[in-house]
Amino acid sequence: MKPPPTTPNLNLNIPSEAETFIRSSFANEPKRLAHILQVAKRVQQSAEEIVANHAVEDFDIDEAHCAALLHDVGYLQKLHRTGFHPWDGYYFLKEQGLDRLADIIVCHSNSPEQAKLRGLPEIPVSDTLAAKLLTYWDTRVMQGGRVVTYEQRLSDIKARYGEEGIVTQSHLAAEPRIKKLIAEIEEFLGGGLG
Ligand SMILES: [Fe+2]
Repeated sequence: MKPPPTTPNLNLNIPSEAETFIRSSFANEPKRLAHILQVAKRVQQSAEEIVANHAVEDFDIDEAHCAALLHDVGYLQKLHRTGFHPWDGYYFLKEQGLDRLADIIVCHSNSPEQAKLRGLPEIPVSDTLAAKLLTYWDTRVMQGGRVVTYEQRLSDIKARYGEEGIVTQSHLAAEPRIKKLIAEIEEFLGGGLG
């Protein structure tokens, strides 16, 4: 195990500080940075819309926003331990004392299914609205930040990783769960998302 990296004087549970950290950490990966920032922007907008129109319990807009900003943090080379970015991000956030954020980000998108296919420790799927919003937007935003449909995102993954690869297979395994989640979120948002 490598020693834990440090994030001096940063409170990653404050959106502006999480964004500063992400912008500097991924400055040399512009496509991934654009993806992260777009996911974060959309999650924040959707969170605000939901809070304005529904009585939701145990839901915090800033927490959902921070989770979106930090969901791919485990891709940072300096955080690599398992080599599987959801778990690496999880361990990093746990070290920062951010247990709730760790639980949200570890299960984003197809990571539970991919961990299973890779024989890694099981990832519990969080049933929280913050986790669902994160998966909703992560599966609709391309690397580079373009917003597409979930079906377009799946086609892109198949083209990039090949039909037989573990990444594609895990996305296909996750498809029924994610389609159900998408329907649920779109109902909450009143549909009509572009
Ligand atoms: Fe992502």
